[in-house]
Amino acid sequence: MNAVANIPAPIAMLAELTYRCPLSCPYCSNPVEMAKKDSELDTEVWADVFTQAAAMGVLQLHLSGGEPASRRDLVALVRAAREAGLYTNLITSAIGLTQRRLAELDAAGLDHIQLSLQGTDADMADRIGGYKGGFDRKMQAAEWIVEAGFPLTLNAVVHRQNLHQLPQAIEMAVTMKARRMEVAIVQFHGWAMLNRDALMPTREQAEEASRIVAEARVRLKGVLVIDYVPADYHSEYPKRCMGGWGTTGLNVTPDGTVLPCHAAQSIPSLEFDNVRDKSLSDIWYQGDAFNAYRGEDWMQEPCKSCDRRKLDFGGCRCQAMAIAGDAAATDPVCVKSPVHAKMAKLAADFSQDDSAELVYRKSP
Ligand code: SF4
Ligand code: FES
Repeated sequence: MNAVANIPAPIAMLAELTYRCPLSCPYCSNPVEMAKKDSELDTEVWADVFTQAAAMGVLQLHLSGGEPASRRDLVALVRAAREAGLYTNLITSAIGLTQRRLAELDAAGLDHIQLSLQGTDADMADRIGGYKGGFDRKMQAAEWIVEAGFPLTLNAVVHRQNLHQLPQAIEMAVTMKARRMEVAIVQFHGWAMLNRDALMPTREQAEEASRIVAEARVRLKGVLVIDYVPADYHSEYPKRCMGGWGTTGLNVTPDGTVLPCHAAQSIPSLEFDNVRDKSLSDIWYQGDAFNAYRGEDWMQEPCKSCDRRKLDFGGCRCQAMAIAGDAAATDPVCVKSPVHAKMAKLAADFSQDDSAELVYRKSP
C-alpha cells in the first residue's frame, strides 16, 4: 500500500464506462468534448482498475456514463467488480435494459440501481431527454427492476422547465417502490453550463422545491428517503463538493483519465493521470490534480480564515473557475465571495430568459 500520511483512502469510485448514450439531456455532466468509443478502456483494464480500487479501500462503485448499458460487456464488468469485493450501483436511464439483461446483471451480483427521471410524463421526459418513446421504455424497465428485486433509487434532475412536476416525481418514486430518491436541482457543469439560460430555476421555484422536499421527507418517513441538492446559484453558502476534493471519491472517465470530480477537466491548469500509465494508488496519493486542492494551503481569503472552511472546503473548485475565473477562489455561491453578487445576478437574469432554447448533448 502506498498510503500517505493525512490523506484518507477513497471510499467511492465513479466509473464512467462510456460517454455513449441514447438520450441527449441538455444538463449532462459529461464534458462538452467527449472521448470517442475507440478510446474506451476494455473489460480487462476496467477489471484491473476495480481490483486496484478495492485494494485501496474503495467500498462503493458507481457505474455510470453516458449510458453504462451501452457497454456490451456490462455484465462482465459488474461481475469483475463484485469479485473485487465492491458494492455495485448502476446509474442508468434504463434504455437498453431488457428483462433478460437485468437477470444477467442480478446473477453477476449487481447490488443497486439508480434510475434517472427526466420528467413525469412522456411529453416532458422525451423532450428533455431528446428521445421519443424513452419515457415508456423507462417505465417498463422500472417495473422489471423492481420485479427482479433490485433496490431502486430514482434520480430526478429538476430545473426551470420541469420543477412544477416535482410533487408528481416524488409520488412516482413511491409508486415505483423506490427506497430512495435523489432530487437534484441542476448543477451547472458540462452541458448544463451551455443551458443556464434555459434551465436556471427562478428563486421562487428553488424555494418552493425546498419546501416540497421538506414536507415530503416528513410525510414519507419510513417509506422513502429523499436526498436533496438545492439550487446553489440561489444559495448563500456552497456545498462541500465531492465531499471535499481528494478526500472521498474519484472518477475514472471512459478512456481511463482519473479525475477528482466529474467537472475537473474544466480547470485548465490541472493535468490528469491515466490508469493506463500509473497505478490508481499513485494517482490518488501523489497525483498533482488530486493534491492541488487538498487540505487548506491553497485557500485564499475569505476562506482561509473562515470558520466554515472545514465544513465546505470553500465549495466547488469548478464553479469558482467558471464564475470567478480562478479555481482557488471562494465558490461564488458563498455570500462572502467578492463575486457572489455577480452570480446572484446571473441566476436572476438566466431564470427570466423565456426565449432560450435547449442545447442538446451530442454523443461522441
Ligand atoms: Fe465556505 Fe469559504 Fe464561504 Fe467560508 S468563505 S463559508 S469557507 S466558501
Ligand atoms: Fe468539481 Fe465541484 S464539480 S469541485
